[in-house]
Amino acid sequence: MKVLVTGASGNTGRPLVRLLSEAGATVRAASRRTGFDWSDPATHHAAVDGVERMYLVAPVGVAEPEPLVRPFLERARETGVRRVVLLSSSAVATGDPGLGRVDSAVREIMPEFAVLRPSWFMQNFTGDHPVAEGIRTRGEIVTATGEGRVAFIDAADIAASAAALLLADECGRDEHVITGPEAISYAEAAAIYSEVTGVEVRHTSVGTTDLADRFVAAGYPADFAAALAALDEGIRHGSEDRVTGTVHRLTGRPPKPLRRFLAEQLRR
Ligand SMILES: NC(=O)c1ccc[n+]([C@@H]2O[C@H](COP(=O)([O-])OP(=O)(O)OC[C@H]3O[C@@H](n4cnc5c(N)ncnc54)[C@H](OP(=O)(O)O)[C@@H]3O)[C@@H](O)[C@H]2O)c1
Repeated sequence: MKVLVTGASGNTGRPLVRLLSEAGATVRAASRRTGFDWSDPATHHAAVDGVERMYLVAPVGVAEPEPLVRPFLERARETGVRRVVLLSSSAVATGDPGLGRVDSAVREIMPEFAVLRPSWFMQNFTGDHPVAEGIRTRGEIVTATGEGRVAFIDAADIAASAAALLLADECGRDEHVITGPEAISYAEAAAIYSEVTGVEVRHTSVGTTDLADRFVAAGYPADFAAALAALDEGIRHGSEDRVTGTVHRLTGRPPKPLRRFLAEQLRR
């Protein structure tokens, strides 16, 4: 079976390529570093040619990715792709602006699909994300989440869930809300980070507009910055205060807790 993995160098794509290869699938890894560019349709045919199933990470940092992704999906369907596993977000419903419109396109075009709706990634604490940047430079996590809780998820657990759905004989036409094992506030996450690393980290909650301004100052486009800050407002009101059993159901094992993730990634 030939599987295309877009976003193949990213948080979920990298472990997914490894898992699919280990399971015996033929994997085509696609991102700009392998010559695939969402903004260059001339690179699209080579990506989907001969592929049956696809993991879809829409262009990141683009407020409205659907106009780039829809023609790609239509071409993929014409060339024989039957199943798409889409990386969306727990905060995005079908038809919402942004990823929600990509979700709608997948549902319209593909006979089989799985829309993954993961919670916030644990990698935000360790990678290039503004949260990790704030920890490294100031020992501070700035959000607009107040005391709101999030069930942070390891991207590797999302990849394992995606692998199960891509490799299954059938995956139906469904969406899957994916969370880590516990919903915690950013203050609790900061305390766990401090305990694991010995480096003092605190959480500061600011207003939504203030946070959007900070994202713009960090180089994000204004519309994308506003959309990200609005997500924090949702968390403040409890939108992410939930835990699902999806990782266990799809992979047969529980998702990783934040403490263990940070210990593996950061402990010196
Ligand atoms: N972070 C979170 O907490 C969170 C939570 C829920 C959902 N999500 C969603 O998860 C998705 C992935 O986010 P992430 O931050 O983890 O990113 P990521 O997957 O780690 O990185 C983006 C990937 O896309 C590729 N890429 C970027 N621009 C491209 C282009 N123009 N053409 C082709 N490939 C391109 C990158 O590789 P190259 O640089 O090699 O092109 C990279 O492999 C996003 O849609 C985000 O909304 C994130």
